[in-house]
Amino acid sequence: MQWKGLIDTHVHLDFGHFDGEREQIIERARNGGVEKVINIGSNLKSSQETVKLIRRYPDYIFGAVGVHPHNARDLNGDMLRKIKELAIEEGIVALGEMGLDFHYDNSPRDDQKRAFRAQLRLARELEKPVVIHSRSAEGETITILREEGIREIGGVMHCFSGNQITAEKALEMGLYLAFGGVITFPKADELRAIAASTPLERLLIETDSPYLTPVPYRGKRNEPLYVGYVAEKLAEIRAESLEEVIEATADNARRLFRI
Ligand code: NI
Repeated sequence: MQWKGLIDTHVHLDFGHFDGEREQIIERARNGGVEKVINIGSNLKSSQETVKLIRRYPDYIFGAVGVHPHNARDLNGDMLRKIKELAIEEGIVALGEMGLDFHYDNSPRDDQKRAFRAQLRLARELEKPVVIHSRSAEGETITILREEGIREIGGVMHCFSGNQITAEKALEMGLYLAFGGVITFPKADELRAIAASTPLERLLIETDSPYLTPVPYRGKRNEPLYVGYVAEKLAEIRAESLEEVIEATADNARRLFRI
């Protein structure tokens, strides 16, 4: 496959899944038409690793630092200060990922809400957009976003998996919706309908590598190059040209993350 001008807005290249092959995977993405990627922190350590990756691949890898709802129980004042120090590093373009995950409930829900609010406030202070993870917690996510003034902060609902109503509320609050490999899965008709009706100027694409690998590689480890399959599927379901989808999603990524 050979694409051009793609931006993968959500990867976890710091994860151990890529050890020993990281460089080749980045080369493959670059040669296959992925112009830039955004590496997303999920705890303090992966946020530190994100900064290291950016230093190693400046102008190719950008990053977000933050604490995933799974790790929300660990977020205290000291960690928040360290996240803040990382957030002002060159190439860090957003805070996250942050949010609520009531599907796994790996951290108590009160901790998740507290950590989500604390990071939204930090993002507001630093004037950076946010990368939001929300699973089985749509109503609570929207409520917190509204109360914390997301409209002035800006951000993206990463790997959007909510229903049409949530999509509309998120769009009303000025958020972008990012779609990944799930839109290529046979059972995802409702999600495809949402992706088809999202305004082109609010769409982002991502892989969430190493997870959520699109067809035709479903079941294998995901990598940034495969964002091209997400773009192809989006073009198909929206009845737009591939070039149009790639160009618009890349423009949107540049606008949101100021890259
Ligand atoms: Ni992620």
